[in-house]
Amino acid sequence: MFKNLFKKNDYHYQKNSRQMSSIKVLHGDCMKSISNSNIMFQFIYLDPPYDTGRVFSVSSKDNIGFNDNFVNDDYCKFLDSCITECTKVLHANGVLCLHISAEQSFPAETVLCKHFKYINKIFWKRCHGKNTVKNKLGAVIDIIFECTNTKNKKFNLVKVPLGDTVWAFKNKDDRGNYSLGALKHDRTRKGHIYSITKDNVKYEAPYGWKIPLEEMNTLIAQDRIHFAVKAKNLYKKVYEHEHNGKPLSNLWDDIHSITRTQKDPRLYPTQKPVKLLERLLQLYTDEGDWVLDPVAGSGTTGEACKSHNRNAVLIDKNKDACDIMTKRLL
Ligand SMILES: C[S@@+](CC[C@H](N)C(=O)[O-])C[C@H]1O[C@@H](n2cnc3c(N)ncnc32)[C@H](O)[C@@H]1O
Repeated sequence: MFKNLFKKNDYHYQKNSRQMSSIKVLHGDCMKSISNSNIMFQFIYLDPPYDTGRVFSVSSKDNIGFNDNFVNDDYCKFLDSCITECTKVLHANGVLCLHISAEQSFPAETVLCKHFKYINKIFWKRCHGKNTVKNKLGAVIDIIFECTNTKNKKFNLVKVPLGDTVWAFKNKDDRGNYSLGALKHDRTRKGHIYSITKDNVKYEAPYGWKIPLEEMNTLIAQDRIHFAVKAKNLYKKVYEHEHNGKPLSNLWDDIHSITRTQKDPRLYPTQKPVKLLERLLQLYTDEGDWVLDPVAGSGTTGEACKSHNRNAVLIDKNKDACDIMTKRLL
C-alpha cells in the first residue's frame, strides 16, 4: 500500500463482504504520492488541468476549484513528470487515458508520444455548440488519449445500440422485423465467387460474396436471406430481436457533460460525468482491478469504481477536492 506520507487524509471505503471495492483518497501532490505506491494499476485516468490560464471555481461564493495557470514550459514539465510516475505503476497490459480538450491537446500529445508506443484517440462530443461564439469555431470535442506500451492491452469489447437512421428494421417476416445486412464484397475485397438462382432470377456478385456457398445455402434454407429481386441482390436478414448492438466506435456522442440541472450534480469545476468513467472502466478493467486517478478532483473515477467493484486510489493536491470526494464516496 502507500507509505505513511499522507496518512492523515487517507480514507478507505469497503462495501459489504460480497462487493469488495476499496477506495483510497490521498491529499497531496500526485508526483510524490505515486512514487510512494507499491500497487500496480490496470487503468490510470488522468484528467489534468489543461493550461487554459483560468481560475476555475464552482461559484464565486465559496471559491471551490483550482488554478489552471502555468508559466513558460512548466505545463509540459508537469505532464511529463506526472506521466513518468504513472508509467512506473501501470501494469504491462494496462492502459492510461489522458483526457483533455481538443483545443489544448497538442502539448499533451507531444508529451505522451515520449512515453507510449501505442496511442489511440477517443473523441468525446461533450456538448452541442454554443450560440455565443463569434470569431472562432464552437469547441465541443474533448480528446481521450488511450495509451499503452503493448499490443495486447486488456480490452473488453463494448456494444452500443444501433443508430435509428442507419439501422431501421423496416422489413418484416414471420420471425420479426429485420434490416438488410450487405453480403456483396466491393471492389477493394475479393470474396467467394458463385451465383444463386431463384425463380429464374440470377444473383451474382462481381467481387464475390462475404460468405461461402455452403453458408449461403444454409441461410437460404432457414429463410434468413432477403432476395431483392429488382436489384438482383441478396442480403442477410438482421433481426431486431437477435441483435445486441454494434461495437463502440472512437466517436462518443451519447454521453452528456455535467449541467447544473442534471441528476449527476456538479460539485466541482470541470467535473466529468460518471457515465464517461463507467464506460472507460468497462473497456479497460475487470472487477477487482486497481484504478489510479492522480488528479481526481471531485472523485468521479472513485464513484464509478465503487459502483462497479473496482478498487481505486484517488489523489488531489486540493484539500477541498479531497473533502468533496470523501463526502461523495461515503
Ligand atoms: C480537471 S480537474 C479533475 C476533475 C475530475 N476528473 C472530476 O471529474 O472531478 C484537475 C484536478 O487536478 C488537481 N491537480 C493539479 N495539479 C495536481 C498535482 N500536482 N497533484 C495532484 N492534483 C493536482 C487540481 O486540484 C484539480 O482538482
